[in-house]
Amino acid sequence: MKPGASDSAARAAELRRRLTDAEHAYYVLDQPQMDDAEYDALLRELQALESADPELVRPDSPTQRVGGSPSGAFAPVPHRVPMRSLNNALDEGEFLSFDRRVCEGLGRAHVTYMVEPKLDGLAVNLRYEHGRFVQGATRGDGQTGEDITANLRTLRSLPLRLRGQAPPMVEVRGEVFMPHAGFARLNAEQAARGDRTFVNPRNAAAGALRQIDPQLTAQRPLQLYVYALGASDGYTLPATQQALLAQFRDWGLPVNPLNAVAEGADACLACYEKLLAQRPQLPFDIDGVVYKVDALAAREELGELARAPRWAIAYKFPAEEAQTRLLDVEFQVGRTGAITPVARLAPVFVGGATVSNATLHNLDEIRRKDIHIGDTVIVRRAGDVIPEVKAVVIDQRPTDARTIDLPSQCPACRSEVERSDDAVVARCPAGLGCPAQLHAALLHFVSRRALDIEGIGDKLMQQLIDHGRVAEPADLFAVTAESLMALERMGEKSAANRVAALDKAKSTTLARLLYGLGIRDVGERTADTLAQHFGRYEALLAACQADAATAGEEKDKDRYPRLRAVADVGPEVAKRLVDWFSDPQKQAMVQRLREAGVHWPDVAVASAEGPLSGRRFVITGTLPEARDAVAARITAAGGQVVGSVSRKTDYVVAGEAAGSKRVKAEQLGVTVLGWEALLKLLDAPTPV
Ligand code: IVH
Repeated sequence: MKPGASDSAARAAELRRRLTDAEHAYYVLDQPQMDDAEYDALLRELQALESADPELVRPDSPTQRVGGSPSGAFAPVPHRVPMRSLNNALDEGEFLSFDRRVCEGLGRAHVTYMVEPKLDGLAVNLRYEHGRFVQGATRGDGQTGEDITANLRTLRSLPLRLRGQAPPMVEVRGEVFMPHAGFARLNAEQAARGDRTFVNPRNAAAGALRQIDPQLTAQRPLQLYVYALGASDGYTLPATQQALLAQFRDWGLPVNPLNAVAEGADACLACYEKLLAQRPQLPFDIDGVVYKVDALAAREELGELARAPRWAIAYKFPAEEAQTRLLDVEFQVGRTGAITPVARLAPVFVGGATVSNATLHNLDEIRRKDIHIGDTVIVRRAGDVIPEVKAVVIDQRPTDARTIDLPSQCPACRSEVERSDDAVVARCPAGLGCPAQLHAALLHFVSRRALDIEGIGDKLMQQLIDHGRVAEPADLFAVTAESLMALERMGEKSAANRVAALDKAKSTTLARLLYGLGIRDVGERTADTLAQHFGRYEALLAACQADAATAGEEKDKDRYPRLRAVADVGPEVAKRLVDWFSDPQKQAMVQRLREAGVHWPDVAVASAEGPLSGRRFVITGTLPEARDAVAARITAAGGQVVGSVSRKTDYVVAGEAAGSKRVKAEQLGVTVLGWEALLKLLDAPTPV
């Protein structure tokens, strides 16, 4: 023994314990105990002790996660207990038949199930002998897997030693997967190095587990959740899956916190709906829900089939991805003239709906993803998200596949398109002279958050344009019931309703008008802030005209000072505003809106001297007065009304059915005012 060896041994043991605890806290419990620097320092100290005296090295030391040299091949591992698959239920009916079979088989009216998200990764078998991790294997064909022990050791959520009392031998089964955040990071790194990117987290996880060199696996962000027992020796089985999962947790193994217990089929279906709704927000992919009879004795009674047990089923979610053919690419012209490619697809059922169009964003994206017409593509539709072409299946590219180029003319009006310098973005310069832009601009003008004119949708607007009834927003207000009835399928009542809606919309607000005009980059929030700040249309116009003279200033900070004094308005938005307000045609268009009877009240501009000066307010929920009126009261008293709650907010005025903003205010400790409290505050004398 070397001098001082017993001290070193004690210190090494202490370091192993502290590092193992820290890994468990961080990777399994998700409750970090120490920061990375401290962890690294302890690990380095342990490494130093171990290299000074190799006899101190233990196989379950945190330094041994990446150990040994590449094995060259994965040796076969026969599974003592086969790794079965699960039967699938594709709809509610199939799930209910499963439940009926289970109930009948057990002679019970209803059964308790463990409900677990079906993780979309790779099944592994983890063998522990006397608490020590000795072997990890893939599922393989269910009878024989491959030895991937060295790679699995690099997963920090996988304990190298079980906590507490462990049996002589136990096999624990679970899923290795890659969370979204890690997947995105990995793909960004791959792309930066010019390496191939992975199509989805599952493929990336599979690739990581099959690395010949565990060093490479160690760099991949893999996670593990365990959910089943394999073979065991000298272990007394618990009575239920719930108890089994609790045992796993006690041993320090990671168990999915989303697992739940459900009594009977209805509760199971409720869990399905809940997880389906949570799915888009989850940090990892799940492709369905697994239901397992909770009582282990009941499982014995039901038995197993060759491929899958009778006591469990996977109720799959509608696939979010599917393959189909890209038939063609068309170009669409948006409200601001941007020309965007749209994929025309062979119809395919994905994400619970039939999809035949998908967005391609822009040419840059098409080039990056190497998309050709004729390609087999992977289409993704998650939740309410617009379908998109995620990737191409390169090895299925036909020889006559065609490349995609930007059109040189606008597909709607044949104007020569303007291209960005890098030739990836094309724009139609024709403005409202282009029927496609006119159509989109008018739909925006009548939309709910703009002038809010009910009953004029896509088709009717197209007819109005085609019949030459409208060529700009003001024309809408000249539309009569007679002219509407002259259009296809429009009855007297419907026509009258629409004219009434148009009439009502003439009385609007400055904020709605500014938003409805469709100035580029002026969204609802910015429109609102501009209205609050300038109060009158003319004041905004005057500021834009005065700022136009500063456009050529050399220093950024000297450009557009009046507009940039407005909260949220930066140099780009300021430039858009100056451009728009300097265009005489746009001013004439607003003038014609006024002549058509469109009007809006001036907004009280925040007075510097008022009881509420310098205070920021957010209004939410339903109040006894309209939101605009409440905002006017606040600004008249010197306060400022803003859109979203932050630490800088002084008060949140919450009416009935106030939702997330109120919650956020409470979280941030911002004062929440009711209607009465606001009225009191408005009356308060000016502070000295
Ligand atoms: S239990 C005999 N539980 O789904 C039961 N499997 O289609 C064995 N999977 O090979 C599996 N999440 O890779 C079980 N909570 C979960 C699961 C799960 C994902 C995978 C596993 C299995 C496949 C069966």
